[in-house]
Amino acid sequence: MTETNPTSYEGFVGQSWMTESELKKLIEWVPDKAWMLEVGSASGVTAAKITEAHPETRIVSVDPYFEKGERIGHWLSNRRNHTQNLWCGTLNHLAIFCSAKFDFIFVDGDHFFVGIYGDLLYAEKLLSADGVIVCHDYDELAWRDVGQAVNRFCKEAKFEVCERFHCLAKLRRAA
Ligand SMILES: C[S@@+](CC[C@H](N)C(=O)[O-])C[C@H]1O[C@@H](n2cnc3c(N)ncnc32)[C@H](O)[C@@H]1O
Repeated sequence: MTETNPTSYEGFVGQSWMTESELKKLIEWVPDKAWMLEVGSASGVTAAKITEAHPETRIVSVDPYFEKGERIGHWLSNRRNHTQNLWCGTLNHLAIFCSAKFDFIFVDGDHFFVGIYGDLLYAEKLLSADGVIVCHDYDELAWRDVGQAVNRFCKEAKFEVCERFHCLAKLRRAA
């Protein structure tokens, strides 16, 4: 059976903008007791599902909510506990104030070349030494810019795609 994207879950308002099996894989990749950054959160369903599975991992979600203001309300309703925090703005602004380093950064915000490439450059600055970046829509035909920006970033910042699952690509610093 073909999977849906976005996906609805009982007990959550709004939707997760990934398939059920992608979300399952993402949850598997997120480390326990870690610091995670999510760039592009929408209704926060994905972040809340991750929190249910990794209650001691602290998640900072970033979303400027340019168009869909009602999603902030969804995000707050879906928030599972105090380990989830929301930055209503863009990553470049968060990066000015943020001194934390993240072990796991999920990039799923702007889907156009300049935007995602810029987010990846900031993500690299905020990534811990052994941290990984996961990008969504890497192989998605409707979002060709994502794959192009990720490939350019890997080449220039010396990262490599170390694992793939459907439209998810996991990146780490090249040895
Ligand atoms: C595909 S949705 C995110 C889905 C979410 N990660 C999930 O799994 O359900 C994309 C979101 O990125 C946000 N967005 C757009 N431009 C952004 C940017 N420059 N930085 C961060 N988020 C951005 C949009 O407001 C939208 O809510």
